[in-house]
Amino acid sequence: MQPIGVFDSGYGGLTILKDLRERLPEYDYLYLGDNARAPYGTQSFDVVYEFTLQAVKELFSRGCELVIVACNTASAKALRSIQQNDLPHIAPNKRVLGVIRPSAEIVGDFSSSRTIGVLATQGTVQSESYVIEINNFAPDCTVYQQACPLWVPLIENNEFDSHAGREFIRNDVNALLSQNENIDTIVLGCTHYPVLKDYIESILPDSVKVVAQGSIVADSLADYLIRHPEMEERCTKKGQLHFLTSESPEEFDINASKYLGIDIHSEHIILQ
Ligand code: DGL
Repeated sequence: MQPIGVFDSGYGGLTILKDLRERLPEYDYLYLGDNARAPYGTQSFDVVYEFTLQAVKELFSRGCELVIVACNTASAKALRSIQQNDLPHIAPNKRVLGVIRPSAEIVGDFSSSRTIGVLATQGTVQSESYVIEINNFAPDCTVYQQACPLWVPLIENNEFDSHAGREFIRNDVNALLSQNENIDTIVLGCTHYPVLKDYIESILPDSVKVVAQGSIVADSLADYLIRHPEMEERCTKKGQLHFLTSESPEEFDINASKYLGIDIHSEHIILQ
């Protein structure tokens, strides 16, 4: 088996996996959630790089030829280093792709006011990756960012629907909007956030579009596989799914099955 690897710090990458399976159901996927060490969003560059490299190596050792880093924080802080410095030594023929570039490529198309907001983890915001990447593709757009350090812990601990959880979310959304009243497009720049999309939309004016990444990343992968037939041929196609977690598999199975709407039987791994 040579599944497509999908990696996230925890459950967030499941929102990407869901769209990958809808768009490209024939492929096999191996999901890895580093739940034991989530959240990554408040960790330093070095730590996120180290954890992400360990996860990528684990997925490679289990047969993945292609790995999607379905985590914005890891894409922002570790992807370039891994692609440029590590891959040539550890696996020159394998590939690692991220989620920021595909999203940045397309988001300008949604904005009439050319004023875009990004909600993301502290690490992603600090890296300025979205500002840089969106400006590459849509130089006439101005990008405003808001770090939401509590959202991933709220989601990982299943507390995002509580009264207090909603207050935190509302405050961060308002803080973003208060930076510029012309923001008409908001990117959910963290793969955990799509579970909050309905609530976020309910507190925003109808004129503001909320963009989640799943379908964008799925379209981008489909396009990548067409442009790279040599990689496409190496990805096995039995439509199978397998899950790895660094936390309790029992807990992962319960939570992850809510994201995907299927029964999940994950395997415990130790990343090092
Ligand atoms: N899903 C990750 C992201 O897209 C969350 C990072 C975290 O663990 O804080 O950024």
